[in-house]
Amino acid sequence: MMMSDKRLLQVLQGKALSRPPVWLMRQAGRYLSEYREIRATAPSFIDFCYTPKLAAEATLQPIRRFGFDAAILFSDILVIADALGQKVSFETGEGPRLDPVQNMTELNALHEAVDLARLNPVFETIDLVRKSLPSQTGFIGFCGAPWTVASYMVAGHGTPDQAPARLVAYRDPVFFQALIDRLVKASIVYLSRQVEAGIEAVQIFDSWAGVLPKHEFERWCVVPVQQIIQGLKALHPTVPVIAFPRGAGGRIGELASSLGAEAIGLDTAVDPYWARDQIDGKIAVQGNLDPLVLLAGGAALDRAVDTILEAFSGRPHIFNLGHGILPPTPIAHVEQLMKRLYRN
Ligand code: CP3
Repeated sequence: MMMSDKRLLQVLQGKALSRPPVWLMRQAGRYLSEYREIRATAPSFIDFCYTPKLAAEATLQPIRRFGFDAAILFSDILVIADALGQKVSFETGEGPRLDPVQNMTELNALHEAVDLARLNPVFETIDLVRKSLPSQTGFIGFCGAPWTVASYMVAGHGTPDQAPARLVAYRDPVFFQALIDRLVKASIVYLSRQVEAGIEAVQIFDSWAGVLPKHEFERWCVVPVQQIIQGLKALHPTVPVIAFPRGAGGRIGELASSLGAEAIGLDTAVDPYWARDQIDGKIAVQGNLDPLVLLAGGAALDRAVDTILEAFSGRPHIFNLGHGILPPTPIAHVEQLMKRLYRN
């Protein structure tokens, strides 16, 4: 395969770079004053996500300011629930609100297949971004993993441990499997349309993978993500996938080899030196700076950056946070991070 001139794609093809590509989860958003400014022009967050001009602008803002090696589509993992016919809104300061789906009857009231017309603004956003992205910048699309999306669809809001979905999965596994299966199918179609619109790599966010015991983890996290990757690759064999099973802990090495993804995202709690020995050297690793050390800045930030660079030197690595950037993070600390990365 021809080597891309984009650092992100080179690493996703298994190349180790002396200065790894960098992007940050949630790199577009509230820590940027230019984001807050345009966000205020839309009546709601979901309207913002569905307005291509605004979503494209939000995607590009962090690229212009920091020169990251990849842009991530500005949207949310919960638009898939919206496109399945569930009512979704975002309350300022409180997070997502959905009309809960907790049994077969409620699931049957949703659409069988994702309403792609509803997601048209997302594909238009991708087209707009693609046209104005610098030639060296990769473009990442995404979806939520079925387990993580289902956990919000069942509870109807965020919770500390996704207990509502875990309970439903034990009590009514037939319903929960049907919900997961519907999300697998919807995610394959959604990601494949993203690729057709101009996305170059996809990340699958399994933010709540860490709360499940082994058997449930296999059934609700591992298998559905494998199915999505297989389904996407059947349609688009060369598109690289980054899996981010947050909280997977000791399961990370086995997961990296079994999911079929080109890269595995490491969360903040994973020791990079340990992970280096667990994960097959052909699989790229992404991560895993603590968002709190980026918020804190100073010598602690420099030290944490150096440790991650050292641990992953000589292997394919995409520098990132271990979870999303926090809204109070000072711009100056992101600049400090970029300086530290470019030092050599
Ligand atoms: O990374 C990026 O810059 C791209 C945009 C993006 C958003 N959400 C924008 C957003 C991405 C990739 C997501 C993913 C997402 N959304 C996840 C997985 C990653 C993770 O953080 O674990 C999850 C679980 C969600 C669901 C969600 N969306 C929650 C729980 C919340 C409320 C909490 C919060 O951060 O406010 C959202 C809202 C949301 N998604 C905002 C943004 C910028 C804030 C709303 C606003 O700006 O008004």
